[in-house]
Parts: sequence; structure tokens; C-alpha cells
Amino acid sequence: MEWPTYRNSLEEYHRRSTEKKEFEQWLQSNLSGIIDKITLPVDEDGFRHLDIGSGDGDMCCKLVDIILNHHHSVICRSVEPIAEEIEKFRELVKKQTRANATFDMRQETTEEYEKRPEVVVECLFHLVTILQMIVAVDDLEKTIMHHYENEMGKGSAMIISLISDKSPDLISAVDASHGFKWSSADVRRMLQEKDLHYTEQFVPYTVDITQCFDETSLKGALLMEMLTITPGFRECVSKEKQKTILDILKSKSFKDGDDILAKYGFDVYIVFKT
Ligand SMILES: C[S@@+](CC[C@H](N)C(=O)[O-])C[C@H]1O[C@@H](n2cnc3c(N)ncnc32)[C@H](O)[C@@H]1O
Repeated sequence: MEWPTYRNSLEEYHRRSTEKKEFEQWLQSNLSGIIDKITLPVDEDGFRHLDIGSGDGDMCCKLVDIILNHHHSVICRSVEPIAEEIEKFRELVKKQTRANATFDMRQETTEEYEKRPEVVVECLFHLVTILQMIVAVDDLEKTIMHHYENEMGKGSAMIISLISDKSPDLISAVDASHGFKWSSADVRRMLQEKDLHYTEQFVPYTVDITQCFDETSLKGALLMEMLTITPGFRECVSKEKQKTILDILKSKSFKDGDDILAKYGFDVYIVFKT
């Protein structure tokens, strides 16, 4: 999706969905346990964290704060192609002082980053996170295996999170996904085929879709753009298809007072390098 349509739709989605809150809770409950299991030695430079597709850095900073509860210092490298997102990340870092965290922000796609020869020899990371972005990469296996083989040390961990294939499948229904190439089933299949050591967790969340059923609602229109990854959803998609998509959404929803909440979830894959 093109900037800034993406951001407007994303912001509406964040207002209507419990995804971020649920993921933050998941991190608070699970990240410490994962860090404790990482056996790659941490030298005096500190714990090395690589975050791919960091967006505005909000989630990345939350990860760094949890890591700092376990290690004296963190070097966090982020890879994010959109300049406006990196600017927000910089502002966030300026606002919240973390004496023992160093941020190294790279403005590029993971595909560009992976091609850099120095990446292979530079350093090994203790933790690689690919949160809510793997759906957009060109080649799922190439990206995951690049980070696994070249940037993780023995005993380090990778966390991949993405919308679960148990969520309403609107992307295939709309039949024109603008940027979503992979599902959680593809990630699972790939990890199994490569025989990687991983665990999987399902984390449920809800999206308030009440406005989506009001044809005059701008908020509903923005939300539908995000849920289907289709800019201009109400203008570009035929009325017949819009009805089919709303029916799918409704079939995966429940009433909460006057609100209609759709049942969504994400799958989190935790991969340890053995
Ligand atoms: C939904 S946001 C997720 C942000 C953050 N990881 C989080 O969990 O809150 C997805 C981010 O991935 C970035 N992105 C999309 N394609 C990418 C690629 N090929 N390489 C690196 N980042 C990418 C987007 O620009 C966007 O900022």
C-alpha cells in the first residue's frame, strides 16, 4: 500500500484492534523466558538485537527495554525502508533516554540489507525479530534463512509474528493483495521443511468492525482497506465482492453490546539456532 494511505488505515486499525495490546502482553509474559534460554555468549559490547521492519520503533523499543532487564547493554540494529517511520523511531529514542542502548537504524528493505557482503561477516546477533512484516518480503525462505544462517549464532533466537491463518481470510477473498504475499501456513511449512527447531503460539485479538457495515463511514472504509490490504477498497472492489468479504468477516465475529468484534489472532514462531 502506498504512503500515506497505509498510515491512515494502519492508525484506524490500531484504534479498532487489540492486536498491539495483546502482542505487548505476550512480550511481557514471554520475552524474558526466551532471553534466558539464549546461550550465545554476550561480550562486553552487550546483547545484539536485529529488528527487521521496525516501523516507528515503538515495539522495538519495548523489546529493548525488556532486554535491558537482563543485560547491561543492548546494541539494536533496525532495518526499515520508510523514511517517515525511521524519523518517528528517532524521535521516540530521543524522548526516552536509555543510557545503555545503542540504535543503528538502516533505511532499506531487508532484501537490500541481505545483499550487503559485510552483513555476513560483521557480527552475530543474540536475537532477531521479524514482527508483523514477513508477509511483505519477496522471498520468505530466502529472508528467514539469510538471517538464520548468516546473522544468528549458535544458541540465539528468532521471533517471527504475523497474522494467523486462523483469522478471517479476506486477503484471498479480495483477490488483489497489495503487498501481502505470505501466510502463517507458509512460515510453518518452511520452518518444518528446513527442520528448524521452533515452537508456535497462537495469540488471539479482536477488531471492532462495527463501522465496516456502515457504507457512509470513512473510518469503516479505512479499516476495510487495512483488513483487505486494498487501497481504495470501497471504490475499487465490486459491490458483490464487498458483500462476500463482509459476510466472511461477519461469520468470524461476535456481538459485544452494540459493537461487532471480529475474531483475529497472530501466530508467533520462536526459532532457536541449534
Ligand atoms: C506493520 S509494520 C510493523 C512494525 C513493527 N515491526 C511492529 O511490530 O509494530 C511493517 C513494517 O515493515 C516494513 N516493511 C515492509 N516491507 C519491508 C521489507 N521488504 N523489508 C523491511 N521492512 C519492510 C514496513 O515499512 C513497515 O514499517
